[in-house]
Amino acid sequence: MDITAIKTEPYTDQTLGTSGLRKKVSVIKQQNYVENFVQSVFDCLENFEGKTLVIGGDGRYYNDRAIQAILKIAVANQFGRIIVGQNGILSTPASSHVIVKYGAVGGIILSASHNPGGPDGDFGIKFDNEHGAPAPQELTAKISARTRTIDHFWTVDLPDVDLSQIGEQTFGNTVIQVISSVDDYVAYMQEIFDFGKIKKLFDNGLTFIYDAMNAVTGPYAVRIFEEILGAEKGSVIHAVPLPDFGGLHPEPNLTYAKHLVDLMYTENAPDFAAASDGDGDRYMILAPSFFLNPSDSLAVLTQYLDTIPFYKGRLTGVARSMPTSFAVDAVATDKNLPFYQTPTGWKFFGSLLTANKIALCGEESFGAGSFHLQEKDGIWAILAWLSILAETGKTVEQITRELWQKYGRVFAMLQSYEGLDATDANTLMARLNTQLPTLPGTSIQGETITEAFNFAYTDPVTGEIAQNQGICLLFGTDTRIVFRLSGTGSSGATLRVYLNKRITDPTHFDDAPADALATLAEVSRIVSDLKKLTGRHTPTTIT
Ligand code: G1P
Ligand code: ZN
Repeated sequence: MDITAIKTEPYTDQTLGTSGLRKKVSVIKQQNYVENFVQSVFDCLENFEGKTLVIGGDGRYYNDRAIQAILKIAVANQFGRIIVGQNGILSTPASSHVIVKYGAVGGIILSASHNPGGPDGDFGIKFDNEHGAPAPQELTAKISARTRTIDHFWTVDLPDVDLSQIGEQTFGNTVIQVISSVDDYVAYMQEIFDFGKIKKLFDNGLTFIYDAMNAVTGPYAVRIFEEILGAEKGSVIHAVPLPDFGGLHPEPNLTYAKHLVDLMYTENAPDFAAASDGDGDRYMILAPSFFLNPSDSLAVLTQYLDTIPFYKGRLTGVARSMPTSFAVDAVATDKNLPFYQTPTGWKFFGSLLTANKIALCGEESFGAGSFHLQEKDGIWAILAWLSILAETGKTVEQITRELWQKYGRVFAMLQSYEGLDATDANTLMARLNTQLPTLPGTSIQGETITEAFNFAYTDPVTGEIAQNQGICLLFGTDTRIVFRLSGTGSSGATLRVYLNKRITDPTHFDDAPADALATLAEVSRIVSDLKKLTGRHTPTTIT
């Protein structure tokens, strides 16, 4: 088989964001765009010849084409074995698990996570390292730099590889092994959780719905919830992964999973509802007339995870991303657990998990995970909750209300202003940054700023420093606004405004979050001069 070097010109826009490269499909489709990027990734790895690489994706539009292109480059680069999910499908957590299980040097995951798919939607490529963790900052910087200097990539003249059948095919020095997309992951979940105990919940009549949002988790969820745990057939809806997600925006939150939220506020609501995103690393949980805020969820998982036998005695510490509400902090203090606050993005949890400094971690953006693998894991979070229900005999609402009783309820809301002009958004952030020294002492709408800073983080394991990770305005110890720009968009800019307020008076626990946080939202608009600088007054999504 002839391996040839193809001359190429660098693209200037292949910088990695919060989680890998995210672009419009039309951008990704440009000549050699995928080839340039993937060769750049390989150029930044060492000693991979003869070793194993994993490739999988969330099945979105262009997944199939990109995989074929990547297979050619990977064979030309002399990987010894390439493990691919059947039909190119692997959820992000399943990829992470497979990388470690088969001792791969890493994996390429094709996904734009919760961003819409289809010919006019988004596509993405990320690289996970040998721990199955998102490429750490140092590596993403190296890859981004390489994309700007690349002048050739390696390829072979290979026909399209049939990925529909499980088995092995040999091309030159490389074995391409197609594996089941779900078997390894499901077996791993069975090692972690006591499925017998969870099954009893269903046997005893727990009613359940899981929305796979026409994205990657359908086959995993049908197997786990319906076939093994005994949830009623049809409990998993939108269960077939579609290239355009059937027009759904595969982001489980109050805006994009409104159909599920609406159902949960009717008389027909099942006892437990859940959903996952495009690539299966996010989760949302609802109970009848009750929305489980992901920041509260992390607090509860911290409180109860060690009631699950697999985690008993293994709760070394906990981390949350900075914009995640401080609900978990009090639980960590109570349980005497080391606690870390990291910048947004799962890559910052990797070193803490590898060094066993933390056992679990989470983000306000519907992400949670543990040391079981180094990506966030939607189905794991749902199984962890079901296990906690089984262990405690309580309901989601009961458990969460007990948390509020003990520590107060931290109202948490993210207001996103999407599709802003990038220059406007940068000006807004720069202006806030300049004002930081003078903001403390300022009162707006009766709220007084006590501290104002730009969040910076030094990784306690690697010493790596991440600066400029979001502007924090504190109003005493229980109220906070955070501003940051999204790093996952494919065009323009998205301003994220996080609002947090702890209320300790139980008569206000059932206030609508929009009411509890109305003043703070107004403060965020005033202090950032939002209207003047962006022309906007109303967020495009609220979660
Ligand atoms: C968003 C979330 C962040 C999450 C990331 C990937 O990033 O805010 O918590 O890790 O998606 O799922 P952002 O667009 O804010 O950079
Ligand atoms: Zn995702």
